[in-house]
Amino acid sequence: MAKLIAGMGTSHVPGLGAALDNGKTHEPYWKKLFEGLEPLRAWHRNNTPDVNIIVYNDHATEFSLDSYSTFTIGVGENFRPADEGWGPRPVPSMDGCPDLAWHIIESVMAEEFDLAVNASMDLDHGFTVPLSIAYGQPKKWPAAVVPVCVNVIQHPLPTALRCFKLGQAIGRAVASFPEKINVGIWGTGGLSHQLGGERVGVVNPEFDKKFLDNLIKDPLANTRISHTEFMREAGCEGVEMIMWNVMRGALGDDVDEVFRLYHIPVSATAYGAIILENN
Ligand code: DHB
Ligand code: FE
Repeated sequence: MAKLIAGMGTSHVPGLGAALDNGKTHEPYWKKLFEGLEPLRAWHRNNTPDVNIIVYNDHATEFSLDSYSTFTIGVGENFRPADEGWGPRPVPSMDGCPDLAWHIIESVMAEEFDLAVNASMDLDHGFTVPLSIAYGQPKKWPAAVVPVCVNVIQHPLPTALRCFKLGQAIGRAVASFPEKINVGIWGTGGLSHQLGGERVGVVNPEFDKKFLDNLIKDPLANTRISHTEFMREAGCEGVEMIMWNVMRGALGDDVDEVFRLYHIPVSATAYGAIILENN
């Protein structure tokens, strides 16, 4: 049977990918952040699973607002980095894991989660930047991926609780996957940030810290936060944090926090990352 070894949460700030792609990580603006990420990268080097389920959001890159599903799972053999207007990022394409993806679809469908299915979606910074944060700039990514796209941009959005429950169902799906493989699950986006409007640049360290602490102390508390509260406290794009609830829901009650980083600012965001080993 497959084993879910750990969960990771990380922001997906595109500037971080650009810093890597353009060799700027040693410049003063980026140096401290990338030094802070070294233990995260060491952990990933030592704990590479066979497959990472990566819960992310598309930023109206692949999916037009004319047709936007709440949850979409990628069943392709391979996924390309998306062109977000200035050409795709110079990163390798990503091998999928159709067997695990279809097993998840069948398993969560039986638990009343009907996912949209997509075999050819291109993946934007919401997906590729977390990969770069974990694995740097390899010629080939060290693990296959199962993309799970969550609608966090076109209201109505799924609730924080719905995201957690989807995670629980995905956790059970992994546990019943018959192959003996190791699996990781990532929640991406956040933490507090707002990219436009009167409150552009808003960050809220107290809110973010409580959210991170609750991942260990009281994960259900993070399922009771409304979208309005996320957006009021953590900025409009802070609502991306609901994707971390999918990751947390998939893990068991007992997790060990083995890494945390919180850094302000990275572009317009409060950057946060955490790794939770699953006991
Ligand atoms: C930024 C953050 C995001 O989450 C995003 O999708 C785009 C930009 C930023 O802070 O620059
Ligand atoms: Fe985003």
